[in-house]
Amino acid sequence: QTDDAQYLCSLIRTIPGFPAEGINFRDFMPVFADPRGHDLLLQALIADLPVDTNDFEFIAGLEARGFLLGTALADRLNKGFIAVRKAGKLPPPVVSQSYDLEYGSATMEIEEGLVPAGSRILVIDDLIATGGTAWAAMKLFESVGCSVAGFSFVMELQGLHGVSQLDNKPTSSLMVMPA
Ligand code: PRP
Ligand code: MG
Repeated sequence: QTDDAQYLCSLIRTIPGFPAEGINFRDFMPVFADPRGHDLLLQALIADLPVDTNDFEFIAGLEARGFLLGTALADRLNKGFIAVRKAGKLPPPVVSQSYDLEYGSATMEIEEGLVPAGSRILVIDDLIATGGTAWAAMKLFESVGCSVAGFSFVMELQGLHGVSQLDNKPTSSLMVMPA
């Protein structure tokens, strides 16, 4: 277990000063380049789900890195997958929500009509920093009559209070690290 966790951590690179001065970029692409790392990551996410697998019907992945996790996890758990995309990529009709990002601001969108009202969603992303992206996803699903059952993150940046934006929904983060 500890060996596996250490192995996984060893695959995540930190790049100071990218994409802007003062930001420590956490790069987990090496995990996907490594079959053992990829498998360990999905196993760890499943072992650490914030809610029971019976408590949601869909997994939503947040563009772009949340897509890598979300589709693989949805396949393993036999759930539907919903892409939450950056503005302008999805065909109409879409539902949009703007938010503040760790650097800059952005708008996320989902396709209208993909998730039936009343659906329960597990939102997944690689990282939570300020929480703006995850918050926007929650608002998007709420605006179409769905609810977010919980949030799964690989990494949580400490001190930015991202999780406190998420209306006390069940949340799990595999790794908590300094911003
Ligand atoms: C990063 C990260 C999260 C988000 C977290 O994505 O992958 O999605 O920022 O920040 P927040 O909690 O402050 O909102 P980014 O927008 O850099 O793009 P990418 O996933 O498409 O690479
Ligand atoms: Mg992202």
